[in-house]
Amino acid sequence: MKVSPSLLSADFSNLSPDIEMINNSQADYLHLDVMDGVFVPNISFGFPIMKAVSKICTKPLDVHLMIVEPQNWITQVRDLGAEIMNVHQEACLHLHRTVQAIHDAGMKAGVTICPATPVNTLVDIIEDVDLVLIMSVNPGFGGQPFIKHSLKKVRELRELISSTGSKALIEVDGGVNLTTGKLLADAGADILVAGSYVFGNENPDDAINSLKNL
Ligand code: DX5
Ligand code: ZN
Repeated sequence: MKVSPSLLSADFSNLSPDIEMINNSQADYLHLDVMDGVFVPNISFGFPIMKAVSKICTKPLDVHLMIVEPQNWITQVRDLGAEIMNVHQEACLHLHRTVQAIHDAGMKAGVTICPATPVNTLVDIIEDVDLVLIMSVNPGFGGQPFIKHSLKKVRELRELISSTGSKALIEVDGGVNLTTGKLLADAGADILVAGSYVFGNENPDDAINSLKNL
């Protein structure tokens, strides 16, 4: 299993030790949650913070934009050196164009769907994306309980990917812990995002390893 710890649950008053921990861990990515107070009812952090983080983080950055009009920020995300740029399907009027523009900028394109957005809305884009991020909570906050229906969506997405020959990876975000992580692994997830489970743990490194071993 690949693991993408979410910085949202790190100590914002002292980020360096948490990033150092991620650098020295078995984590595959660092997940960065950008919120604009419009697409989601919360504001997290923006480019100045991410720029500083990108300078000391040695893991590939997995940027999750919970913002309206994410197509306006492709250059800035590219300039962070991000590996994956995730945009919400619900925030993109011209999703195909945005996915192409992310690729043209040299990044992997991820499309994210909220809990109430059906997997079948991805039928006409699945072959063009590198990753689908299934939200297993309503985006905007860390520490929310896992929505069980997400397991069905992961299974449906796994079927859609096999039937189309798409190379997309399945990432899941929200309420991930050892129990829900095991269910997600069985349902076919490739990457688990975990915020509070990692940073709320007495030993974050063990928490990452426990998900890695699923
Ligand atoms: C929520 C964010 C998540 C968040 C997950 O909107 O997209 O990445 O950090 O937090 P946990 O793992 O605590 O549910
Ligand atoms: Zn996220």
